[in-house]
Amino acid sequence: MVNLTIDGRNVKVEKGCTVLDAARVAGVHIPTLCWHESLPPYGACRFCTVEVTLRGRTRMQTSCTLPVSEGMVVSTASKPVLKIRRMLAELMLARCPDSEPVIELAAELGVHASRFPYPRVGKSFMIGEESDCIMCGMCVRICDDVLKVGSLAFEGRGGLRSVTTPFHEQSEVCRLCGACESICPTGTIRQRRITGQEPKGIPFEFEQGLAERKPISLLFPQAVPKVPVIDEDTCMNFKTEGCKICE
Ligand code: FES
Repeated sequence: MVNLTIDGRNVKVEKGCTVLDAARVAGVHIPTLCWHESLPPYGACRFCTVEVTLRGRTRMQTSCTLPVSEGMVVSTASKPVLKIRRMLAELMLARCPDSEPVIELAAELGVHASRFPYPRVGKSFMIGEESDCIMCGMCVRICDDVLKVGSLAFEGRGGLRSVTTPFHEQSEVCRLCGACESICPTGTIRQRRITGQEPKGIPFEFEQGLAERKPISLLFPQAVPKVPVIDEDTCMNFKTEGCKICE
């Protein structure tokens, strides 16, 4: 076990945890935009930056990628931390001024407008030039690494980087599982732009198809025993051997 201090609270967590995990154990809120428990941390948005003092050195680091160390002292809301987060919020608002999650996160930090010009660059047939994409790569990583489908990829570098499909063609391998759309932190990705097909819900048999269900669901509300079942016809694990997020 590792002992550390977060905002004056003593926390004991398992070795290998990140500072973000430890903060959650301690009930301390750290804002995140590019973190999801089904993916390894990537450190793309930097909203989770905290001030860390260890062995006499103080540094700013992203809490989602930083493993805990014995004796670490973490400050999640010091003046320099808040200044960095507000600056990030302004940059993010400039990049994606229409994204509801970004607007909400910026407002949480007291930022309601950006002083920066509108740096929308990069082209992608899939996302389009007017994109709210922040290049966090969550859609690419969940599609390729977790679902093992591989219908999305990054293209280009720096400011010209974009998310697209191989050869810029609408994908035939996309399974319309919706993982990219549900994980996208800015609500940019649209499955119909990836495949050209319209996603359809799975009809809930118990409701005679008038409602939808997930690939893992209760057969009906009064089921005994009340345990969810996995539908082999629609669960992605039976198609690609990937996912296992429910597990
Ligand atoms: Fe840590 Fe985005 S949540 S960098």
